[in-house]
Amino acid sequence: MNSLTLAERVAVTDKLDYLILKFLIQKREKYQVIPKSIIKNSLNLTENEYAVSSLRLLKTGAVTKTRIRGEEALSITFTGLDIVATKSLYTKKILNRLGIVIGEGKESKVHFGYSFSDDTVAVKYHRIGRRTYKRKIDEFYNGNWISMTLENAKREYENLECVKRNMGNVPSPLGFSVNAVVMEYFEGIPLYRTEVQDPENVLDKILATLRISQVYCDGLTHGDLSPYNVLVDESQNVMIIDWPQATRDNEALEADVENILSYFDRKYSISRDFEEVIDYVKGKT
Ligand SMILES: Nc1ncnc2c1ncn2[C@@H]1O[C@H](COP(=O)(O)OP(=O)(O)OP(=O)(O)O)[C@@H](O)[C@H]1O
Ligand SMILES: [Mg+2]
Repeated sequence: MNSLTLAERVAVTDKLDYLILKFLIQKREKYQVIPKSIIKNSLNLTENEYAVSSLRLLKTGAVTKTRIRGEEALSITFTGLDIVATKSLYTKKILNRLGIVIGEGKESKVHFGYSFSDDTVAVKYHRIGRRTYKRKIDEFYNGNWISMTLENAKREYENLECVKRNMGNVPSPLGFSVNAVVMEYFEGIPLYRTEVQDPENVLDKILATLRISQVYCDGLTHGDLSPYNVLVDESQNVMIIDWPQATRDNEALEADVENILSYFDRKYSISRDFEEVIDYVKGKT
């Protein structure tokens, strides 16, 4: 079943399969790998129910199988998280249809989709892996990779929600569940791939959004502001995407401002005074 799309994997996942996946998520702090006897007993599954469900989950890639002290044991994968998230977003009437993958980053996979009112949406599935675990653990969350991934999605949703509520140029967040965030789809391309007609105007829109985030969201700054995370369309509308790592840290704010100013300086020879921009973004001027 390697070639199945995520939507197809969701479609073959059964009620009992979901129970098992949710159980694996729920027990994540206690066990990263859960023995068959614990799964079966906790969920009251017969031998046959367990066998059928676990086989299907293995085939869709939702779980992996290992052995603990001679006993079969399961652990959930990123695909497993994606499946539970998608089903739950559908049940909550946030996501009606899922389409192609439109972006695959280091720590996420982004799909195109449709809401129940047929608006186009982007669905970002977070994937904080064991590789990034070490680096991030002190910074954000003192737990395992599933918890970190779930935290990341929630944080991105909340950050988008605050900036959007205050009219910043970010995609409207529509909901989140498990490791996925659903937001408005923006038909634009990353800043680094295009030559904008009025760069002063685009820069002003970016800085205005940084100011909104600072002033109205309790000192929040993006934390990874770069021409990769700014999308622009033909009418020069701007969207700053990718907010899970946003922090309330002055060094991060200065780095964000420095990154964006130096990009506009290099590419468009626009020079702005760093300190003045910092004061503006902090709401002092
Ligand atoms: N709301 C959106 N509308 C349209 N496209 C989007 C949206 N959100 C994300 N994308 C697409 O998905 C890509 C990855 O999104 P994002 O930057 O949020 O994730 P990421 O994990 O940081 O990826 P990367 O590591 O490449 O930066 C974007 O470059 C963009 O092409
Ligand atoms: Mg990004």
